[in-house]
Amino acid sequence: MSSSGLRGKTALVTGAGRGLGRALALGLAERGAEVVLVARSEAELAKTAELAAGPTRVVPADLGSPAEVAALVQRTGSVDVLVNNAAVTRPVAPTAEVDPADFAAALATNLTAPITLTIGVLPGMLARGWGRVVNVSSGAATHPGSLIGGNAYTTTKAALEAHSRNLAAELAGTGVTVNIYQPGMIDTAMQTDIRGDLGRGLAEPVRRGFADAYENGVLITPEVSAAGLLDHLLDDDNGVTWNAPGFG
Ligand SMILES: NC(=O)c1ccc[n+]([C@@H]2O[C@H](COP(=O)([O-])OP(=O)(O)OC[C@H]3O[C@@H](n4cnc5c(N)ncnc54)[C@H](OP(=O)(O)O)[C@@H]3O)[C@@H](O)[C@H]2O)c1
Repeated sequence: MSSSGLRGKTALVTGAGRGLGRALALGLAERGAEVVLVARSEAELAKTAELAAGPTRVVPADLGSPAEVAALVQRTGSVDVLVNNAAVTRPVAPTAEVDPADFAAALATNLTAPITLTIGVLPGMLARGWGRVVNVSSGAATHPGSLIGGNAYTTTKAALEAHSRNLAAELAGTGVTVNIYQPGMIDTAMQTDIRGDLGRGLAEPVRRGFADAYENGVLITPEVSAAGLLDHLLDDDNGVTWNAPGFG
């Protein structure tokens, strides 16, 4: 994508306060988009805004709250690029020990919120005949038996992929595309958490695998991962999975 390929477009990035979401937001701003930055932590969003090369709007919202997601859709106005990046890994525990309310909270943030935001921005994209929706997934969706202790996270990502592919087929020929991004293993707070206390809920070989990946230098930077998505954003791909450089 050229350095100004998104001039005049508005992009909304969830989870834009840190990690992959911040790198994506900065990359979109660099390419000329006005970027709407969404997450709960206003201070982290403000930092992303400060680092951005172009105009941004800080819109704090809890994506786990259906009321806040509905309000976000109302407040944002037209969106040309929607990147559903925010996600939580919790609850991480043997499934028999999981509080169903915690499972439902993961579904709300990782699955219902991306779908609600997509439904909110689709009419405008269809009317303009152009739009890009990218749903950030995980290798857990490709190998659902792998993340033992992470049933909620795996379920949300696999369902998000099914939603993406079905919607992409529905939208074929409209100029609006929906694609999936598998971002690789990235050196972010999510990885730090899973190597720490949170990871104790995983099956031991899985927990060890995360520690080994970190120690062996497998993790990539958020910027490297973000490039793997941004490089495809203006392609005509629809209903496909893009992989981070070195993964997939
Ligand atoms: N890191 C990896 O190795 C890896 C691997 C595979 C897939 N992924 C995927 O990549 C994406 C980004 O992950 P990351 O590693 O950058 O995670 P991260 O460092 O934990 O950042 C997550 C972002 O999502 C936001 N968020 C979480 N819950 C939210 C809520 N209820 N409402 C609004 N915002 C919320 C966080 O902000 P607040 O907490 O302030 O709300 C934060 O900005 C996720 O979809 C993740 O599943 C990551």
